[in-house]
Formats: sequence, structure tokens, C-alpha cells
Amino acid sequence: MPSDSQCRVCGGTVREFFDFGRQPLSDAFLAPESDPGQEFFYRLATGACQDCTMVQLMAEVPRERMFHDAYPYYSSGSAYMRTHFEELAKRLLATELTGDDPFVVEIGCNDGIMLRALAEAGVRHLGVEPSGAVADVAAARGIRVRKAFFEDSTARQILAESGPADVIYAANTLCHIPYIASILTGVKTLLAPSGAFVFEDPYLGEIIERTSFDQIYDEHFFLFSARSVQAMAARYGLELVDVERLPVHGGEVRYTLVHAGARTPSGAVRKLLADELTMKLAEPETLHAFGTGVLKIKDELTSLLRELRAEGKRVVGYGATAKSATVTNLCGIGPDLVPFICDSTPAKQGRVSPGRHIPVRPPEAFADPYPDYSLLFAWNHAEEIMAKEQAFQESGGKWILYVPEVRIV
Ligand code: SAM
Ligand code: TMP
Ligand code: ZN
Repeated sequence: MPSDSQCRVCGGTVREFFDFGRQPLSDAFLAPESDPGQEFFYRLATGACQDCTMVQLMAEVPRERMFHDAYPYYSSGSAYMRTHFEELAKRLLATELTGDDPFVVEIGCNDGIMLRALAEAGVRHLGVEPSGAVADVAAARGIRVRKAFFEDSTARQILAESGPADVIYAANTLCHIPYIASILTGVKTLLAPSGAFVFEDPYLGEIIERTSFDQIYDEHFFLFSARSVQAMAARYGLELVDVERLPVHGGEVRYTLVHAGARTPSGAVRKLLADELTMKLAEPETLHAFGTGVLKIKDELTSLLRELRAEGKRVVGYGATAKSATVTNLCGIGPDLVPFICDSTPAKQGRVSPGRHIPVRPPEAFADPYPDYSLLFAWNHAEEIMAKEQAFQESGGKWILYVPEVRIV
């Protein structure tokens, strides 16, 4: 019987619903010559709070192990995501940032993919980013960036130096932060009276509906829903006033929080809350069924890869994503089944994947010669990658996908 843990939002009891077993850090790509005995592993398991419904990991990894100077995820690697964030920046300029000398703070600005457009528009801004190499790229793009973990103390410093923020923004970052109490206390302090805290993260509803279990890894500590975010906001004097479903990264929600009572919640909030009740989102039977679905995908994917190997077919991975750590380590996929993974990130190339040690090669290796099949670990970028690699399909190559089910296209 797995033991319970304590909810990082409300202190309630978190009951485990799925155990992914021993897992490495999802973004710890190793130098091939490094000592495998030094690799860090932890037990990855998910649970749901019996009180506030927040779905979260049962144990946390110390933040410095994940986010450091060699953090290898560069947001601007996707043209599609560059457009996504440019559009958001334009929208913020037209809506939240129309006052006199507005100020924007981004938590986890990475290489500046979003702030770049605001900096170019002359908006006063600050990116807070603890991972040194990606922060340096943002700074080189003319973005004002502080190399630090955002938390309550950082928020107070920023307030003292620059005044209140009209917008505090975070994309694919808030869900990475178990010490959420410190973050929301900081947001409450730093946010201007009429300001908005806008954040977007993978949506629990989508993860459950599509069995996208690879969204679960060390960095994704929380899997948010409208219901759990609404309850979380209320504990810190904030209020959920808008939600927007986003197609990016396999299905996300953009949440808008304001000081409690400052704005009227939109109909979209009521609708998403009602949809979550209808689908019994955080109910034990739904979470149990998710676990059954994960094991089915695991069995089907490993069987398919073994069959293809027995037939003498070559299968190459595409996208050395953080998500792929969960897939390869849960399913036992190593270089015997997938000899290498192609990825466009220089910081990952020439290294081996966490846990299963699959070599990562540049995309040029893909066509040298094309494999029979490619296992698309970066399925959230399918459209962009398939368009780029059209010649692979034209050569007779086929993609293997595993979310929401194992299939060949
Ligand atoms: N916002 C970018 C995007 O959506 O592509 C980056 C997302 S990346 C997955 C998460 C980022 O959050 C990393 O660059 C990491 O260094 C940063 N991060 C982690 N904890 C943080 C904290 N407490 N404060 C600020 N940034 C943090
Ligand atoms: P993500 O799913 O966490 O955004 O990671 C995507 C990974 O896939 C990242 O390592 C970069 C890589 N990638 C490519 O290799 N080629 C591409 O065209 C895109 C969009 C991403
Ligand atoms: Zn809770």
C-alpha cells in the first residue's frame, strides 16, 4: 500500500494513483563518458489531494538538480511556439498593458521567447530565470533578466526596485514549482491592484482524456485543473477570472488570476468547471482508469518495437524531450530498440538520454539513411516536425505515435 503525502497547496492528504517507478531527471542528458553510477534517480508517482483535488507528484526533486546553468531546454527551438508567444505578447499589449509605463514580470522566461516582443515594443519588463545558459540567451536578445528562482523574497525585491507589476506571466513554469505557497504569496505582493497573473500549463483534463502520461515527470510537479487552480488562488487572496484552452504542448489551459474581487469571472471559467464535474476529472475511478490506460500503451508500444526489431526494421527516435524520459524508462526502451534520437538542440546532441542512455544526434543524422520508422517523442510538435521531415515520409518512412494510443501514420 503506497503511503500518502501532504498537499503542497492546502496541506491535505494526497493519495497516490499511479507509480512510474524509478526515474532519472528528465532533462539530465549525460556525456557518454560519464559514470552511470552517478546518475540521480527518484521514485515518480502521482497522487490527488483528497481536499483541494490538486494532482501532484508524491515526492519532489530539489530544484537546483533540475534548473541550473546547463539546463538544456531552449524554448525558441520551435517556430510554432515562437508564434504562439508573439501572439500572446501582442494581446497583452492591446489589453493588460495599455496604461502609463506598464511593467511585466515573467517567471521562467527561458531564452526570452515571449519577452522578446515586449522588449522590442519598449515595455518595462523583467524576466526571472534561474537556468544560466538560457538566461544568457535572453540577455543577449536585449531582455532584462535576473538569474534567480522566483519566490516570495524575489517578489519583494522586485517590488522595491521597480514597483508593482501590471502583468505577471509564466508559461510551462508554475507547474514546475512545488513551493507554490511562496510563489503565490510573492505574486500577491508584487501584482498591481488592477494587474493580472497569467499562466499556462499542461491541462489535467487533456492528460486524462488523451492518456498523455509522458506529461508526468520530475519538472511537472502539478497537473492543474480549473477546479484546483480556483481553490489554490482563493487561499492566497487571488481569484480565477478567466481560462482559455490552448492547443500547444498537447493541450494546455491559460489561467488568469487577479486580486480577489477585482474582476468578474468569465463564462469560460464556469463552463470549464462544469465540464470537469461532468468528466469526473479528479475522481478515483477516473484516475484509476488513467493508470489502466498507461499500462495498455506501455504494453502495446514495447510489443510494437520488439516486433519491428524482430522484422529487422530500423526505428529512430525524434525529439529528445523531457517527456521521453518517462516513456523510455517506464517502457524499458533503450538503444537496442531505438539506437538514437534526433534532436535540434545543440546542448542535447552528442549526449545520451537520461536513464536508458540512448544517444542523441542532430537532425541531419535522420536522413543518413532514413529509418523505416520514427518514434515521435516530440508528438506535441508533430505538425512542425512532420512538415520539416516530409522527405522521410516520401521515402516510405512511417511515424509511430503513442498518445492517445499506439499507432503508425
Ligand atoms: N516559459 C518557457 C516556455 O514556455 O517555453 C520556458 C519553460 S521551461 C519548461 C521552465 C523554465 O522555468 C525553465 O527555464 C526553468 O529554469 C524555469 N524555472 C524553474 N523554476 C523557476 C522559478 N522558481 N522561478 C523562475 N523560473 C523558474
Ligand atoms: P518539448 O516537447 O518539451 O517542447 O521538447 C521538444 C524537443 O524536440 C526539444 O528538445 C527540441 C526538439 N525539436 C526538434 O528536434 N525539432 C523540431 O522541429 C522541434 C519543434 C523540436
Ligand atoms: Zn490540497
